[in-house]
Amino acid sequence: MPAARLAANSKGIKLTLVPIEPGVSINADRRVLAAVVMNLLENAFKFTRPRTTVRLQVCASADRVLIEVQDECGGLPGGDINDLFRPFEQRGANRSGLGLGLAFSRVAIEASAGRIYARNLPNVGCVFAVNLPARARSGPRDRRLSARRRGDILRGIPPQSVPIPGSISDLQKRLAGQHYVADRGLAVSLFLALRLKRPLFLEGEAGVGKTALAGATAAALGTDLIRLQCYEGLDVSHALYEWDYARQLLELRILDATHTLDRESARRELYSETFLIKRPLLQAIDPRRTRPAVLLIDEIDRADEEFEGFLLELLAEFQITIPELGTVRATEPPLVVLTSNRTREVHDALKRRCLYHWIEYPSFEKELAIVRERAPGASARMAEQVTAMVQELRRADLYKVPGVSETIDWVTALVALDRDALTADAIDETLGVVLKAKEDLEAVRGPRAAELLARATTRTDVAPSR
Ligand SMILES: Nc1ncnc2c1ncn2[C@@H]1O[C@H](COP(=O)(O)OP(=O)(O)OP(=O)(O)O)[C@@H](O)[C@H]1O
Ligand SMILES: [Mg+2]
Repeated sequence: MPAARLAANSKGIKLTLVPIEPGVSINADRRVLAAVVMNLLENAFKFTRPRTTVRLQVCASADRVLIEVQDECGGLPGGDINDLFRPFEQRGANRSGLGLGLAFSRVAIEASAGRIYARNLPNVGCVFAVNLPARARSGPRDRRLSARRRGDILRGIPPQSVPIPGSISDLQKRLAGQHYVADRGLAVSLFLALRLKRPLFLEGEAGVGKTALAGATAAALGTDLIRLQCYEGLDVSHALYEWDYARQLLELRILDATHTLDRESARRELYSETFLIKRPLLQAIDPRRTRPAVLLIDEIDRADEEFEGFLLELLAEFQITIPELGTVRATEPPLVVLTSNRTREVHDALKRRCLYHWIEYPSFEKELAIVRERAPGASARMAEQVTAMVQELRRADLYKVPGVSETIDWVTALVALDRDALTADAIDETLGVVLKAKEDLEAVRGPRAAELLARATTRTDVAPSR
C-alpha cells in the first residue's frame, strides 16, 4: 500500500482505505490479487478528477470478500460496461496503456472462483469490485462458516450412547454421588425410563425434587441437561426454533451491497442453519449431539393444551420438519423428564406415552438424608430437629405446605444465624423461611409452634433444647 499512497500523493489525490475486519482471509493467490488491486488503483488514479478521493474498501460477508475501488472520474463513458474487461478496449480521453489490465484481471479473478465487475455512478465516478471466496478462518467465525452449508443440521454424528447404570442400586448410588437421594420406587421408574427409552412423567407437590432429579440424572450419566421451562403462552418459537431475523437482515444488506448472490442462492443462504436459533427442544434432538441429553420439560401443566399436543407429536418421533431446511431427527433420542405440579390435568394421551411417577413428600428418614446432603454444615441434632419439625408442619392444617427446599433453606438459615439447635425463639425468628403465607405464619407462630416442636422432638427422640 505504500506504493499506492505514493502514486496518489504524487497526483494530489486522496486515498482512503477502509480496512478489512481482522481474521478474514481471501482464498486467492496473494500476488495475483495484489496485482489486480494495484491495477484498479492505477486506473482510478489515472481517471479520477484532480484533488478528488479514491477509496479502497474491503468488506466480508460470511463466505465472500468484496474489494471495491471507487473513484470520482465523473462517471463511466456510455456503452456496455462489460466491454471494459475486453482486451485492448479503451474508452474515455486518456488512452495511455494497452487496455489489457482489466482483461488480465478478469481472467485471474475468475480462475480463483471470483468475479470482477464495474458499477457506474453517473456524474460522480465508478466502482470496480472484486468478489472472491473467503478462506475458512480460525476462531468462532470459522465454525460459523463451516456450519453454513445448508443441510448440515440434517446430518448426524453417531452418538456415543449414555451408559445406563447396570442396576437400580447402581443408579441410586450414582444419584447419591450428585447429592440426590432417590428412594427405590423413584429409582425403578428412572431406571425403566432409561432402559425402555420412554419419557418419565413426574408429578408431586412443590419442592419434592422433581426438577432436581433431571439435573442429578444428567450429571450422574455425564451428559447435558437441556431445560425447557413451560409457561402460559409458550410457543414453538421459544420451545423449538426461531429464525434470527436481525442477523438475516444484516446479512441481506451485505449480500445486497456486494451483489454476491442471485435471489435463490440468497434465500438458501439466509435460511441456512447459521441463522437458526435452536431452542431447547431442537437442541435436544440435534443429530450432531455426541451424547443423548436429558431433556427436562419442566412444569408442563403451566403450558397451554395446544403445546401439549405439539409435544405429543415430537415425543412420538423425535423429529421435526423445518420448512426451509428439512427434517431434523435425533440420532439417539434424549431421556425426557416431564414434571407437573398438577395445577391442571395433563392430557391422558401425553401421560400414556410416558412412565409415570408421583413423588410423595419424603419420609423423615429420606428427608433427613436429603438435608445431610444439601446442608452439610448443620449439626446432626439441628438437621434432625428441623426435619422433624417440618414433618409436623406438613401434618398441620396449613394453606401452603413446606417442601424439601424449605427444609434445606431453614437449616441453612439457622446455621447462618449460628444456631446449633431449634428452639421456640429460633422458630419465631425464622418461620418466614419455611412458611410462605401470611395465614400460616399467624396460625403457627407462638404457642402452636412450641407445641409442634414438642411433638417433633418426642417423635424423633431428640431432647428439646431450651
Ligand atoms: N430427593 C432429593 N435429594 C436431594 N435433594 C432434594 C431432593 N428432593 C428435593 N431436593 C432439594 O429440594 C430442592 C427443591 O427441589 P426441586 O426444585 O427439584 O422441587 P420440585 O419438585 O421441582 O418443586 P417445584 O414443583 O416447586 O418446582 C432442590 O433444590 C433440592 O436441593
Ligand atoms: Mg421444579
